[in-house]
Amino acid sequence: MPFRILILGGTRDAMTLAEQLLDQPGLEPTYSLAGRTRRPLPPALPTRRGGFGGIEGLKQWLTDHDIAAVVDATHPFAAEMSHNAAVACRELDLPLGRLDRAPWEAQPGDNWHPVADLHEAAHKATELTAPGDTLWLTTGRTSLPAFEGIPDRHLLVRCVDPPDPEPAFPDWTLIEDRGPYSLDGERRLITDHNVAALITKNSGGQAARPKLDAAREAGIPVIIIDRPPLPPATHTFQSPEAVRDWLSQALSVVEAYQEGAGES
Ligand SMILES: NC(=O)c1ccc[n+]([C@@H]2O[C@H](COP(=O)([O-])OP(=O)(O)OC[C@H]3O[C@@H](n4cnc5c(N)ncnc54)[C@H](OP(=O)(O)O)[C@@H]3O)[C@@H](O)[C@H]2O)c1
Repeated sequence: MPFRILILGGTRDAMTLAEQLLDQPGLEPTYSLAGRTRRPLPPALPTRRGGFGGIEGLKQWLTDHDIAAVVDATHPFAAEMSHNAAVACRELDLPLGRLDRAPWEAQPGDNWHPVADLHEAAHKATELTAPGDTLWLTTGRTSLPAFEGIPDRHLLVRCVDPPDPEPAFPDWTLIEDRGPYSLDGERRLITDHNVAALITKNSGGQAARPKLDAAREAGIPVIIIDRPPLPPATHTFQSPEAVRDWLSQALSVVEAYQEGAGES
């Protein structure tokens, strides 16, 4: 019987994992995307798009598709999907592996201001900058309404897709880009746009890290949003390779069991 797994994706690490599972005999992975990005990077694996319909919808999907294990490789701020996956797997008694990339840590010379959420970030940005300053926002297009109340700042928004609807910012610039980003590029962006402060989620990972190094060099404050708490998974991993090894081991156990059952 094939070992079917569901990968909850939407991140670069999830794509890497998908590539590593392409030629794994015995594994039948399905990759799942929320379907929000207009031009998603398509993994080579069989892919489904769109929500499951909450916890009950996810449980139904997992049962209908005979899924033996779930990998939560969503973004660390995709708290609702992670919560739904944790509850559904617990109730169905399925193993859940979470790909949990490490958060960024402040280094000497950083001028970081950790905050709990988007609204606190907007408040802190107003406190730390002056009218006429430019704030660089990398918190994603759905986060923009939280910054609409900041008075008299220029907002430099970088996101993968243009926000729809457009935010009610009187003065703003949009940069459509999905990374990965280089240190040189981030330095240039800070200089060219005369950025006074950066606002970011503490996403972790290498692809988006250079903006923090460039901000340190430029001596500008970084308002950094802490991660939301996530429910426990049965297994957590720091790299796509570790998830792949876990799945291979689980497959070996299942195959050994099936062979034993066939022989008896
Ligand atoms: N939040 C971020 O900052 C961020 C950044 C980069 C990438 N992403 C990616 O963008 C997607 C959406 O993020 P979010 O923060 O909006 O999620 P979220 O708030 O945790 O999830 C909201 C709902 O979207 C659906 N959903 C989310 N991820 C899904 C997936 N991989 N496959 C199928 N349905 C999914 C689920 O709908 P149902 O309840 O109907 O099942 C979920 O309840 C995720 O795949 C995430 O990895 C998020």
